[in-house]
Amino acid sequence: MPTSRSHSNPILITGGAGFIGSNFVHHWLNTQESHLINLDALTYSGNLNNLKDIAEDPRYTFIHGDVGDRDKVRALLHKTKPRAILHFAAETHVDRSIKTPESFVNTNVIASYHLLEEILGYWKELDQAEKQSFRFLNISTDEVFGSLEKNDAPTVEESPYRPNSPYSASKAAFNHLARAYHATFNLPVITTYCSNNFGPYQFPEKLIPLMVVQALQSKPLPIYGDGKQMRNWLYVEDHCKALNLILENGVPGSSYNIGSDNELDNLTLVNLICTLLDELLPSSPSRPYKQLIQHVADRPGHDRKYSLDSSKIKKELGWTPTGNFEEHLRNTVQWYLRNFAWVENVLSGDYRLWMASQYE
Ligand code: NAD
Ligand code: DAU
Repeated sequence: MPTSRSHSNPILITGGAGFIGSNFVHHWLNTQESHLINLDALTYSGNLNNLKDIAEDPRYTFIHGDVGDRDKVRALLHKTKPRAILHFAAETHVDRSIKTPESFVNTNVIASYHLLEEILGYWKELDQAEKQSFRFLNISTDEVFGSLEKNDAPTVEESPYRPNSPYSASKAAFNHLARAYHATFNLPVITTYCSNNFGPYQFPEKLIPLMVVQALQSKPLPIYGDGKQMRNWLYVEDHCKALNLILENGVPGSSYNIGSDNELDNLTLVNLICTLLDELLPSSPSRPYKQLIQHVADRPGHDRKYSLDSSKIKKELGWTPTGNFEEHLRNTVQWYLRNFAWVENVLSGDYRLWMASQYE
């Protein structure tokens, strides 16, 4: 447990207007006292509506900017003196990485490298105690480990990297850099590998919100290939709790898997969503919603299975995912039904163009 870190200093997060980042901001302000600064470039998936309810909270500051803008990052670090930085900002959608890999290399590798360099410069100027207690949390993904076969053991933190998409390759590239900055410069880096998150404020290009939003418009529910691909689903609040624990007690230079016990194939999951919608919208003419399911061309290089062994974070930091999957899924579906104004706002602009180019 770091002892000398001044808890009056703020933390800085990047990408806090996105899905996980905005859930983290809410979680932080609900559970912590110290200030949080959110640096976000507001790309298509960054949405300040995710943070409307806390925008005026005196413990919260939003800064519009790119993590690759070195002058801006340098000035921000020297002005605000964060005690920790959590790097969420990224290009995150696998299908987009297949169509436009360059933006993934630009953000997830190059801009993230510039951020890392600025963090190193800032950290080097801290006094010894501050240096020791400082943390850089690099938020990564289970996708860097690649695809498992049906009977393979779950991935552990030391498993070799075998990224298969431009997205996961770009995340893996930065993980190597972050690891090297610990080994070479002793920068207190911790990398986390998380599985598929779900919950409120997720951009509806990702499977769960996409299915809900399509169903509400009586549009087809596109299942890639046979739909038997397995994913490990974690409620986003549980991810946020894990990150808080790692921030406080995680060991610099190490890494942590963050996954759940809920592993199911896409078709089973989409059928569950359809059943929930049938129940929650009893007078809808689209019932039964599963009639909207349509198998479409598979994603190129589609990973068949991810499965994470999260025993390290459970054993060492006492983390455990909460609640049960069906309850979290029900609450999530209800959130999108109750917040249709949020959905409608997202359904304009880039989202429309993406849907046209990807599915039609
Ligand atoms: P998201 O796409 O919803 O949000 C990304 C955020 O980053 C947006 O607010 C965007 O505006 C911001 N951003 C993008 N480029 C930026 C730049 N150059 N400078 C500043 N801000 C920029 O993503 P998410 O699903 O919330 O994922 C957050 C992080 O968690 C990512 O690093 C992702 O790789 C990782 N992750 C996600 C999942 C998941 O299931 N969603 C699982 C494991 C890990
Ligand atoms: O595993 C963690 C990763 O989870 C994160 O690192 C990524 O940022 C995040 O996007 C997510 O990646 P996936 O590719 O697993 O998520 P996505 O929601 O895009 O797809 C989930 C599964 O559903 C996957 O097997 C592909 C399938 N799918 C997805 C879409 C969008 C479909 O069958 N049809 C679809 O239309």
